Amino acid sequence: MSKKEKLTNSFINMFTTSLRTLRQSLLLRHDYLRQAARFSRNYSPLKPRTKAQFESRIIFLTHQIEKGLSHRDFRYGFGKKIFNSLPSMLTGLEKIDANAKNNFVYAYSISVLHEYVRRHQIIGYDLGWQKSLFSSEQWNSIINVPDDPKHACIEINRNDKLLNSTLPFNRLARNRHSIREFSNQKVTAEEIMDAVDLAMTTPSVCNRQPTRVHIVLNKKNISDLLRLQAGINGYPTPPALLVITSDLSAFMTEYERNEGYVDGGLFSMNLLYALESHGLGTCPLNTMFTAKVEKLTRNILQIPDNEIFVLYIAVGHFPEITRTCQSLRFSAKQITTIIK
Ligand SMILES: Cc1cc2nc3c(=O)[nH]c(=O)nc-3n(C[C@H](O)[C@H](O)[C@H](O)COP(=O)(O)O)c2cc1C
Repeated sequence: MSKKEKLTNSFINMFTTSLRTLRQSLLLRHDYLRQAARFSRNYSPLKPRTKAQFESRIIFLTHQIEKGLSHRDFRYGFGKKIFNSLPSMLTGLEKIDANAKNNFVYAYSISVLHEYVRRHQIIGYDLGWQKSLFSSEQWNSIINVPDDPKHACIEINRNDKLLNSTLPFNRLARNRHSIREFSNQKVTAEEIMDAVDLAMTTPSVCNRQPTRVHIVLNKKNISDLLRLQAGINGYPTPPALLVITSDLSAFMTEYERNEGYVDGGLFSMNLLYALESHGLGTCPLNTMFTAKVEKLTRNILQIPDNEIFVLYIAVGHFPEITRTCQSLRFSAKQITTIIK
């Protein structure tokens, strides 16, 4: 090849690379806008419109009651904000679903509300205000659920976790529950590293392994981070906090822009099981921050710009006994569509 031809080729290469990079950059903006529009059309807003949107809000609020009911320091009369919203959401679902009484989410909420009432009635606490917010039909449904303390809460015993490393997968998976109260025993980085090692069996896109784990053991840092996170307020600071991030440097095209959350999510679930099998209790915690909280969090952790937050995992040893939310699940049938 002549010198002139070589120069021409290298110019063409440079030009096409720049064009492709520019195209990627424009597509990235375009696709983010389309993604935002789809999200905006479909998420569950303050005033839901569809059955699924009502159901999401009801599960969210019901879960807050489950959390309050499973709390070690039970606060009678808790949940003012929840009660200001949940009755109207139930009414909304009644309007949209003619068979609401048999709706899984509706019935789940009513049974958790029943447990709330039962726990208060034991000490004769006046629930007049709460009652006034529901329709008389709703209140009757709540009252008429048969008593069962397992509505809303389950009990976790440390002794039941002693053989975790030998459990077959179906028992490990069915016995794992998020706990939010831990024993005072310290957690070491070594204990966590063993579990991280096991979680490295997680598959990732083209084996590029974008997940990163930051282990926070400093109590002040954990407490500052969780105050900003605000999803586990009112619980003692856990002994360890894992920050799961994804390194964006692993991705090569604009359409991989969400891949870090997928790979990081798969890794996180595997890590939750690995920690459980090592006899450690966990609670995944949301890190979908507002821009302001993200900035403050990045500052505390010194997370580099190329890493995005996937989630936190609070980690600790199991206390002798603790309660946690029942967190009822949809059945496989409810969430599956078979395409033949
Ligand atoms: C991505 C993610 C974010 C979560 N964020 C919180 C949170 O901010 N606060 C909290 O108390 N629990 C949080 N959880 C825990 C869920 O409430 C819990 O996983 C769910 O109710 C199912 O219960 P289980 O983990 O016991 O099976 C989160 C879970 C996930 C997967």
